Amino acid sequence: FYRELATRGKVHPIALDTGMRAWLVTEYNLAKELLRNPTICKDARTTAGVTARSGAGRSGATTVSRGITAHMLNSDPPRHTRLRHAVTYAFTPQRIENLRPRIERIADDLLDDLEARRGRVTDLIEGYAAPLPITVICELLGVPVADRRMFRQWTNTVIDVVVGDPDEVKQASLDLERYLAELVDQRRQEPRDDLISAMITDVDEADPLSDQELVSMSFLMLVAGHETTVNLIANTVLAVLNGDADQHTALTATHDLIEETLRHNGPVNIATLRYATEPLTIQQHTIAPGELVLIALSAADRDDHRFPDARVFDINRDTQGHLAFGGGIHHCLGANLARMEAVIAVRKLFTRFPDISLPEPVDRWKPSILIRGLCELPVQI
Ligand code: HEM
Repeated sequence: FYRELATRGKVHPIALDTGMRAWLVTEYNLAKELLRNPTICKDARTTAGVTARSGAGRSGATTVSRGITAHMLNSDPPRHTRLRHAVTYAFTPQRIENLRPRIERIADDLLDDLEARRGRVTDLIEGYAAPLPITVICELLGVPVADRRMFRQWTNTVIDVVVGDPDEVKQASLDLERYLAELVDQRRQEPRDDLISAMITDVDEADPLSDQELVSMSFLMLVAGHETTVNLIANTVLAVLNGDADQHTALTATHDLIEETLRHNGPVNIATLRYATEPLTIQQHTIAPGELVLIALSAADRDDHRFPDARVFDINRDTQGHLAFGGGIHHCLGANLARMEAVIAVRKLFTRFPDISLPEPVDRWKPSILIRGLCELPVQI
């Protein structure tokens, strides 16, 4: 589909159900440039007058309550700079490296549990790829791991904002908001050694984060920190089990394997919503202020001009510059954490279970335009 789109141009008009227009960007160089273009903004309110005219702001953003969406990924400078600054310290290379022993331990424990399922078909997402990053991000933030099933359900529903049932999305977002607001309140009373407490205590006293910002930022970390990484682990394991790469590669060239999975089958599909604030002419099209611009990272990373024979999974290709983690000021804050989790997860899985295989072909993907993730990954151990 992306190849066919590529023959038609770099950017494609989409008719929204509001009767208005949005734009899908699929070409690599244009996607990369727009991710860095300051006239394409994140906060629909920046374009308040024009957004109402285009109807673009109604493409889901209204279904999810403002109580969880007032975070940095939906903000522009200077607000974005201030919010990102409040958490950046937790993602320095040294801090991420410090998490390594704990992540290895979590992976080992999950693999111990999988031992009990030897000889049976088991869903590797449910048993391994999902609980690993969820546990990591919960511990980092200070969210009780025991509640992970509950909020995985909520976050899965909220992520479906574009195709999901609007009432369910709204309810899940309210439940999540209530849950996180309580947690923020607890940490205000009694700070602990976690990221939520740090966002309360370690910021500029003259300009602290509001309750709404704290809840939204916690929500962002929770969702961004696990749903994507789950799929990076699962998509990588699938590439090996499908024969796109062999198990030797999985154990010896894990970094290259992960980078090529990010490029070829990255967990973020068409996400990266932005709004034009100025008219923008691309080829024969003019994008009007207030119109929604969707940058299709997955399409850009399959652009044959940038990655020759892009649809072929090639562990030896140069993956430098892939856009799986976005770009510009919103470039993924957790990219190195995600990479480390995936390397550990994949290496440990194939070391422990070299005989793991697919009992039948797997090709059922979530019907989401945001996430490129399998519904399940049944494996035979
Ligand atoms: C932003 C992808 C893991 C935290 C982003 C963006 C992408 C992305 C594409 C930019 C979206 C945009 O520009 O609209 C991924 C992928 C991951 C992953 C593919 C895993 C394989 C993580 C993890 C965390 C995280 C583990 C940890 C908390 C964030 C945050 C932002 C972000 C906070 C917003 C940054 C900002 O607005 O300045 N991610 N992510 N991500 N990601 Fe990730």
